[in-house]
This record gives sequence, C-alpha cells and structure tokens, in this order.
Amino acid sequence: MTKETPLIEMRGVAYSYHRGDSDEEVPALRDLDLSICPGEFVAVVGANGSGKSTLAKLMNALLLPTDGEVRVAGMLTADPQYTWEIRRTVGMVFQNPDNQLVSTTVEEEVAFGLENLGVPTEGMRAKVSDMLAEVNMDSQRRSEPHNLSGGQKQRVAIAAVLAMEPDCLVMDEATSMLDPGGRRDVITTTRRLCRARGLSVVWISHFMEEAAQADRILVLDEGTVVADGSPRQIFAGEFDLERVGLDIPPVTKLASRLRDMGFDLPTGITHVEELVTCICRLHSKT
Ligand SMILES: Nc1ncnc2c1ncn2[C@@H]1O[C@H](COP(=O)(O)OP(=O)(O)O)[C@@H](O)[C@H]1O
Ligand SMILES: [Mg+2]
Repeated sequence: MTKETPLIEMRGVAYSYHRGDSDEEVPALRDLDLSICPGEFVAVVGANGSGKSTLAKLMNALLLPTDGEVRVAGMLTADPQYTWEIRRTVGMVFQNPDNQLVSTTVEEEVAFGLENLGVPTEGMRAKVSDMLAEVNMDSQRRSEPHNLSGGQKQRVAIAAVLAMEPDCLVMDEATSMLDPGGRRDVITTTRRLCRARGLSVVWISHFMEEAAQADRILVLDEGTVVADGSPRQIFAGEFDLERVGLDIPPVTKLASRLRDMGFDLPTGITHVEELVTCICRLHSKT
C-alpha cells in the first residue's frame, strides 16, 4: 500500500511576529513538523500563547512561515500562484461568530461564498439549501444572523465555508464562546461532516472533552509539537499535560482516582460511557 499523501504538511516550520513597528521578533512557532491526512479529525491543544492560532493561519496561507515549508495538497503556501486554491481547500472558522457573518440573512451568507466561486444563479438556491441542510440550519434560511444563538451562527459560518467545497476545515476555538448546548451542536456537526464528506478537520480547542473526540491529538507547547497520539495515548498518563498548562478530562481523572483506590480499570479512559461500561463489567464480575 502506498503511503497516503498528506493534505497538510509542515516541515521545519518557524514563525516570528514583529513587536509593533520595531525589529524585535516574537517567536511563535519553532521546529514544527506535522502532517494531516485526508479525512482525519485532529485536535490541537495547548495553553494560551502556545501558537495554536498562528499554526491555523499558516495552514491556509494567511501567514507564511519565516522558516521551513508548508504544503497544502502538495501546493507550497509561499508560492503566490496557489494562494487562492489553498484558501479554497482549507476553510477556517474562528472563535467569534459575530466577526465572520456579514450578510443580512442566513441564505445570503452562504450564497455569498457560492457567488465567489462563480456558481450560476439557477443552481444557487438548491445548493444553498443543501449546505444549510448539512449543518441543520435549513429551517432558518430566512433568519437574520444576529438573531441566532452562538451555536447556530457557527453552524452558518461552517455552511458558508462548505460552499467553497473545501477538503479541510480548521476550527480555531470555534466553540469557546458558546454555551454547552451550542458547543455540542457544533462538534457533532463537524464530526458528521468529517465522516460523511471525508473532510479533514483541525479542531483547535482548550476543552479536553472535545479533544477526546478526535482521531488524533497534537499537543503544542511553546510553539512546537510535544506530543502526538490517539486520545487514549495522550490521556493515559505518560505525557504530563499539566506541565504544559493543560487539564486532563474530568472523566479520565476520575478513572485514575478509582484505579488508585484499587479498581481494575484501564488507563486512558476518555468518555463517560466508556467508564460506565468498565465499571459495570467490574460489577458483574463480583
Ligand atoms: N499579532 C501578533 N503580534 C505579535 N505577537 C503575536 C501576535 N499574535 C500572536 N503573537 C504571539 O505569538 C505567540 C503565539 O500566539 P497564538 O498563536 O495566538 O497562540 P494561541 O492561539 O495558542 O493562544 C504568543 O506569544 C503571542 O503573544
Ligand atoms: Mg488562539
């Protein structure tokens, strides 16, 4: 079997900002290598200032690396002839839903993306409807975006990005301003899109319960990847998340406390259902 070509590949990447107008450099990323494969759901976690947003912006050529190279579907982000194609391939959804919706109705918001792609007006209505159905917002197509809840706004933002037919969605703390219900809706929608459409997802979050739902977790610390593995591996306790300013999911902590008390539970439990199943199994053995 041939090795799958990564959708996003970073080799020896560094990025520094300039402080104000001065020549003083603020390093944000260093020695960074990673690859994201087609259809993968990858969570990126890291403390504030660890470089997550900088990493996101390098993934669709909003920023270009100071050193090293970034490729999207083989296209070098530093080559200006690919900029448009790269931005179409990697769609971004940001933290604040109010900053990304610009139209007066939900359907216009999505139609705007399609117009940019040159979709003819006849096909537009059906396509807008399809995109909104994908994020469960079809019934709100005539609503004004500012009347929607935060979770609904983020789902419209996702639909607008889907209109560009991307291969990858980068969600930069897209749930951090939402209530628990909104957070759940947005992550469920995103996971479904990943499975159903084979979209790659880069899910940046400081909520460890969300990261636990990914196929793979990358831990960022001081601008570089310090751990890369399945949620089970990352939360199994070998990697010290607290040292890089992160919490372990509450259910993982609880399982570990129960293990310390002598209960025969596996390491790296990341879901409540999993813990319940393990406890029931123990109970039935006694
Ligand atoms: N526009 C900017 N100008 C100067 N420094 C910045 C800018 N944006 C981010 N930084 C610095 O780069 C580092 C990484 O920031 P960022 O990528 O935003 O991290 P995160 O998203 O993980 O909080 C931090 O030290 C931050 O202060
Ligand atoms: Mg950030």
